[in-house]
Amino acid sequence: MSHNILDKVDRDDELTPAEMKALLDISDPAELQALYDCAYRVKARYVGKVAYFRGIIECSNICVKDCYYCGIRKSNTQVERFMMDEEEIVREAVWAFENEYGSAVIQSGERQDSAYIDLIERVIKRIKERTDGKLGITLSLGEQTEETYRRWREAGAHRYLLRIETTSPELYRRFHPADHSLEVRKNCLALLKKTGYQVGTGVMMGLPGQTSEDLVNDILFMKEIDVDMIGMGPYIPHRDTPMGKKIPPYTDGQRQAALILGLKMIAVTRITLKDVNIAAATALQALEHTGREMGLQCGANVIMPNVTETDYRPNYRLYDNKPCLDENSSMCRGCLTHRIQGIGETIGFNEWGDSRHYAKRMRS
Ligand code: 5AD
Ligand code: FES
Repeated sequence: MSHNILDKVDRDDELTPAEMKALLDISDPAELQALYDCAYRVKARYVGKVAYFRGIIECSNICVKDCYYCGIRKSNTQVERFMMDEEEIVREAVWAFENEYGSAVIQSGERQDSAYIDLIERVIKRIKERTDGKLGITLSLGEQTEETYRRWREAGAHRYLLRIETTSPELYRRFHPADHSLEVRKNCLALLKKTGYQVGTGVMMGLPGQTSEDLVNDILFMKEIDVDMIGMGPYIPHRDTPMGKKIPPYTDGQRQAALILGLKMIAVTRITLKDVNIAAATALQALEHTGREMGLQCGANVIMPNVTETDYRPNYRLYDNKPCLDENSSMCRGCLTHRIQGIGETIGFNEWGDSRHYAKRMRS
């Protein structure tokens, strides 16, 4: 049944929302494999079989937000809060550069105070100086004002990731406190584009009550706002959060189902958006040891190895079973290099690896 749809993909015909939903609803193992293989062909054709590394620096778990799913939400009193100093962040970025990662991602909990905004601005400038302007800098620092986005862009950051989390107003309301707004978030994505960033967004898959129609709408939203990059991953309960408290730890079957849904979503997104960069989220590896490689084989082309100092890692636990908490940056580099070579892909060392979609957008 689904092979007619996949034939359409191979002919480069656009799918209807009903066809996208049919692909997300596949459960037969042979059909699943055919979907993954088809998405891999689209990836090979549009962006090549190259995996780009972005070293991710999780520089602080202090957060003013209180999302009901997230382990570092402000009301979680079980977390020891930390903030790296300027030199530590710069040092980790330089490590990423010296280890041939073309770019780094600076991520933290959300803060909007001026001391923080100034610090990030200085950090970006210092990383640019220390790497001769060669290390690409992506920010993943939440909702900010246009002025802040502009200052960080002018300091040298060129990409920004801000997940929309879900585009369903009902789900958004259910999983966030009343003062968190889907509209504000959408507006931030518009501001990021306006201030000249390559823009990335994404969602969580497998949220309680989320349907495959919701996920189709999420993909269509990403297409409509014309994103360059996508980072999305399966929702995994965290025991010290309001949502996680209601859900007993996943059984093997639930873990497997969450993984498959994550992979299907990557595949259908690749098939629909074609030339964007898609990250194989770390959360995939929390569900299955080889989850990130599986993500690459279903259409993802970016991996974000953790370059955060090992001591801080246990305190940046967004969900339970987060991998690599005891490892250091060199171990993750070696491990992921090995894994990617194991599936016959090359790694885009020393390259920024801008999305082809962005390059096309700039030409037109
Ligand atoms: N499971 C999976 N992903 C999560 N995130 C936050 N909490 C969880 C969770 N419990 C994701 C959000 C956020 C990103 C940094 O981490 O999508 O944008
Ligand atoms: Fe960190 Fe494998 S990626 S240990």
